[in-house]
Amino acid sequence: MRTTPFEPAQSVPPGLLRLSRDDRVPSQRPARARGFNDLMSAPTSNNRPPRTAPTLHLRATEAVGLRQLTPEHKASIRILIVDDERTLRESCASVLQYEGYQVTLCSRGEEARDTLKHNQFDIALIDLCLPEVSGMQLLRTCVESHPEMIVIMITGNPTLDSSLEALRAGAWDYLPKPFSGTHLQILLGRAAHAVIVARESSAQRAQFASQHGNSERVTVLGSAPGFRRAIDLARRVALTDASVFITGESGSGKELIAQFIHHHSRRSSRELVAINCAALPETLLESEMFGHVKGAFTGAFRDKPGLLEMANGGTLFLDELVEMSKPIQAKLLRVIQDGVVRRVGSETTDAVVNVRFIACTNGNPEEAVKAGVLREDLYYRLRVVPIHVPPLRDRPEDLPTLANHFLAHYWSRHRGSTAPLPRLSYAAIRALVSRPWRGNVRELQNVIEHMVVLIEPGEEIQPRDIPVIGDDRPVEEPAVVASPAAESAIEAGYHTARDRLLAQFERQYLEQLVVLAEGNMSRAARIAGVDRTTLYRLMERQGLHRKLLVTPVEEATPSEELPKT
Ligand SMILES: Nc1ncnc2c1ncn2[C@@H]1O[C@H](COP(=O)(O)OP(=O)(O)OP(=O)(O)O)[C@@H](O)[C@H]1O
Ligand SMILES: [Mg+2]
Repeated sequence: MRTTPFEPAQSVPPGLLRLSRDDRVPSQRPARARGFNDLMSAPTSNNRPPRTAPTLHLRATEAVGLRQLTPEHKASIRILIVDDERTLRESCASVLQYEGYQVTLCSRGEEARDTLKHNQFDIALIDLCLPEVSGMQLLRTCVESHPEMIVIMITGNPTLDSSLEALRAGAWDYLPKPFSGTHLQILLGRAAHAVIVARESSAQRAQFASQHGNSERVTVLGSAPGFRRAIDLARRVALTDASVFITGESGSGKELIAQFIHHHSRRSSRELVAINCAALPETLLESEMFGHVKGAFTGAFRDKPGLLEMANGGTLFLDELVEMSKPIQAKLLRVIQDGVVRRVGSETTDAVVNVRFIACTNGNPEEAVKAGVLREDLYYRLRVVPIHVPPLRDRPEDLPTLANHFLAHYWSRHRGSTAPLPRLSYAAIRALVSRPWRGNVRELQNVIEHMVVLIEPGEEIQPRDIPVIGDDRPVEEPAVVASPAAESAIEAGYHTARDRLLAQFERQYLEQLVVLAEGNMSRAARIAGVDRTTLYRLMERQGLHRKLLVTPVEEATPSEELPKT
């Protein structure tokens, strides 16, 4: 097996910091780095228990390996360090100033709050354990008033729970004490890289907005409450770099939500790289993800960067994560913790990457953890923010919007823009709403595309025109008497049980009615055979609003932006 020569310049994608475990490689600043490492490795507070040293024992060979991080970039990055321990604060400052960053120091939370009011920072390094205003309080202030700032928490007691709490509260990453100077340099290098990418993305977004107005690059349609909650969460988490774990049935839109998050994130100018963990055998998946060096295995004729390196600055989408083998999960965990990637077959060279992770599965990840298929630590590290996409049958109010959208899209694709667009009749929409949609939005897309090829221009589409593809058995109705819900309804007494059932019926009826009438209340009242005032009163009683039932989350964008099949 051959190992890579140190720093194979031709195969390193821009923006990567190359590292070596080879201690013989001279550091540019040996004296300072050694002194600092010694300092940082010592326990920092009297009564705190001894802590495990971080797993990273690497020596940054030449930090300018972060190629896009020029001295000018570094000089433009403003870092705030908040720590009550003077030695630690000043040692961090001296390393970071030496690297070329602008550094400001604060010893107390209150002082930091004041400094933040009058100054702009790109990165804040905050000790979790501060007197008076705690590190967590300061983190919340930063997230609220400076959402674009990257906050790294220095954690004295790095339990998984406290670290995850910081990530959930909006921290970019955490740095467990004790840490080495190299560890600090690497982490700040990654954070600085993220700042540069964020500046690039915001410039690109401004340019896109000036050319295309406010249209979105990813079309996500749906207004059902459960789906809205998923999208609202996706929109909020997009602004952070927290890992997201998306669950939902096949075809429900998990990958689309991953795209939505990436395009709304500060990484949007870089790649969203997807890898399907179920599609590749273990060895191939490993070399695809981590890359390999020349001679690592038969057929490895040259060094090749993996998808993790390709996604540097951007997002890696791990599709069907639970299918990944345990050894690869262990390697992945290391990348998530330290950002360090080692190519297959390499013993001396590592790359440091700045990647955001989004994982998904259409199974149940908790069960995969219980069954020992998915590492628990990896799962918790990846599901900092969990998002569940509800199945299409649980959001029938989204069906007409989606169906009309796919109809227009596939009509113009297959039949051109001059032939008159057919229209879905009420009966056709009712027929669509009553289907089980086990394949979710993807199945609906396929059904509509199939139909578009056969239908006449300008025709009113009837239920008989809608093809049946795949499994169209109706979803089984829950047993009326045997289910625990029915039992508790019986115990609630006849009148209460009847009122509950009627309220449920009324709500479902009204939801479908308004959707069918496309939000036109006069038409809805006519279909239902009641007057408009009665209809409004009924809707108010159910807390329903016409707009919420018919307005898509995102406005449709030009057809070339539409999802590919
Ligand atoms: N809310 C939506 N609005 C518009 N298009 C959607 C929506 N949800 C899903 N789609 C489209 O449906 C198709 C399937 O979605 P996607 O690939 O995201 O599903 P998935 O959950 O990742 O499925 P699988 O588990 O099979 O990989 C895609 O073409 C996607 O663009
Ligand atoms: Mg998918």
